[in-house]
Amino acid sequence: MDNTALINDFTGEIHSCTDLAGLYNIKVKYLGKKGVITDLNKQLSAIPADERPAAGAEINKLRLAFEELFNTKQTELKSAERNAKLANECIDVTMPAAPAPLGHLHPVYQIYDEIVDIFGAMGFSVATGPEAELDLYNFTMLNMPKGHPARDMQDTFYISEDVVLRTHTSPVQVRTMLNKKPPVRIIAPGKVYRSDHDSTHSPMFHQVEGLLVDKNISLSDLKGTLQLFVHLMFGDDIPTRFRSSYFPFTEPSMEVDMGCVICKGAGCRVCKSSGWLEIGGSGMVAPEVLAAVGIDSLVYSGFAFGMGMERIAMLKYGIDDLRLFFENRLEFIEQF
Ligand code: PHE
Repeated sequence: MDNTALINDFTGEIHSCTDLAGLYNIKVKYLGKKGVITDLNKQLSAIPADERPAAGAEINKLRLAFEELFNTKQTELKSAERNAKLANECIDVTMPAAPAPLGHLHPVYQIYDEIVDIFGAMGFSVATGPEAELDLYNFTMLNMPKGHPARDMQDTFYISEDVVLRTHTSPVQVRTMLNKKPPVRIIAPGKVYRSDHDSTHSPMFHQVEGLLVDKNISLSDLKGTLQLFVHLMFGDDIPTRFRSSYFPFTEPSMEVDMGCVICKGAGCRVCKSSGWLEIGGSGMVAPEVLAAVGIDSLVYSGFAFGMGMERIAMLKYGIDDLRLFFENRLEFIEQF
């Protein structure tokens, strides 16, 4: 039996095959149920019995030859396929990373930074105090002993008989003057707490306190300082106005108003047609407060003020709903 042609056939086919699927098709063609080599086996019965073993051996050789070629090719194609896959999946370590989303400074803290800058330029340094504060500093030493009716002006979170969440930044006045003798020139920005919650009140908000104590300090120093602050924060065309008021820790006391930034004094919804907006309280430090911290009020005098930072941020950025500050929605915060 001459199988040269057959051997040439499958050798050629296997050599020129380029993918595994094609290779398996070739196997079916030769060794499958109806394959060429399988067929030869079936034809054995037609061969005279004495020639059959030799013919059978020939077919076996053919099969072995085929299988050897097949296996070699299969190994080759498999490793080629694997290399292609690896080349495809390899990680390019030089590729730039996807940008990570960045946070954003809250508008109240942008105002905070601006306030610190403005008063810093006027020579005020920043002082701080704890948010859980002694009743003594939050009230008593500010001329509001236990039972004083003015305590009702501030709905207070009591932590214990003697400790409160500070209702204003004014206790930092006490802490500062206990530690340092005049001249004193500080601002104290920070969180304060009141048991108040509706559309215009939040149980936590921010104030900035100011305190200046030295010789010969008068009301005009207070007015000039706050007028300069308003000019630098809101523009030279915005006036200030001081209305007489009452705080136990200042005497005299004044409410601080600034001209409405929306209508420039003409009257609008925001200023309730008055042309003025309230931004804080102020006054000359009461002699009782100076006495409590051991400062001689015959030698020294001082002024103090306290302003709401959310209020300033609302006016500066034209925000009309206090609640937006506390919802922490990035879409809101990112606008500033
Ligand atoms: N502490 C006062 C308040 O929160 C504001 C204030 C500060 C008034 C300093 C006068 C002087 O209402």
